[in-house]
Amino acid sequence: MAAKVKRVRKAVLPAAGLGTRFLPATKAQPKEMLPVVDKPLIQYVVEECVASGIENIIIVTGKGKNAIEDHFDSAPELERFLEQRGKVKQAEMVRQISNMVHFSYTRQKEPLGLGHAVLAARELVGDEPFAVLLGDVIMPGPHPATRQLIDIYEETGLGAITVEEVPREKTSLYGIVDAEPAPRPPWGKRLLRIRNLVEKPKPEEAPSNLGITGRYVLPPRVFDYLERTQPGSGGEIQLTDALRMLVQEHGLLAHIYEGRSYDAGDKLGFLKATVEMALENPDFGETFRAYLQSLKL
Ligand code: G1P
Repeated sequence: MAAKVKRVRKAVLPAAGLGTRFLPATKAQPKEMLPVVDKPLIQYVVEECVASGIENIIIVTGKGKNAIEDHFDSAPELERFLEQRGKVKQAEMVRQISNMVHFSYTRQKEPLGLGHAVLAARELVGDEPFAVLLGDVIMPGPHPATRQLIDIYEETGLGAITVEEVPREKTSLYGIVDAEPAPRPPWGKRLLRIRNLVEKPKPEEAPSNLGITGRYVLPPRVFDYLERTQPGSGGEIQLTDALRMLVQEHGLLAHIYEGRSYDAGDKLGFLKATVEMALENPDFGETFRAYLQSLKL
């Protein structure tokens, strides 16, 4: 571990967005609670935190998001109901959801952008490094993206973000990085040093096709940069713009992710996530595969 580097124990999960890409399903229901197979989206992200060694999760909510708090709260009546009917495994599953990790909540009072939502967690994070995981991106797999960023941070003392190649014509959906190789074992060529970042550039203005995937590990000084960040793309306070100041004054690394990721906040991405996760389900994956094959598309 690099000298004087604090351990990454906390994660911020911004969940205050209005979910406009998924209307009408999200009119009265948080998009984070949409189920992929049998779990709400945000539970996949919480499980990635737990698998990455995070001990405290701070969820930034807004109006109409109470279902998220209820989901991670204990549910003694439901547990008793299941136990009385001999459904011991189900009761245990329900209990585990609230016991996984310590949760705290704070509110973003107005939807002023991702950067503004992260800033709302400043008091709860305090003066220590922290992870940020976007709740609508699911990244399943044995080597969690967040764990890899934590390892990079603890080894180098520099913040790190996950990036992936995105189609050129889709750069305006992502933060895009301009980066140069900074190879170092065990990450090799997958580790890059960021020179600049641009939020949602047009394809002709994009400095590369490496898009920010929605996983970050950042030093606490980012909060100072967020305080100074003016509204940017879409009139919102963008995390990407604060990270540009971090790049200039301190440095920031990018890690090219190897595994799969799904933008499940988008209808097509959500369908892909659902089908692929269902195919992997130990109880009915094979039956589902046979069903898909029977469709003879
Ligand atoms: C956010 C970030 C963007 C990132 C994207 C990943 O945008 O601002 O930099 O590439 O998430 O999903 P959003 O999708 O919330 O508009």
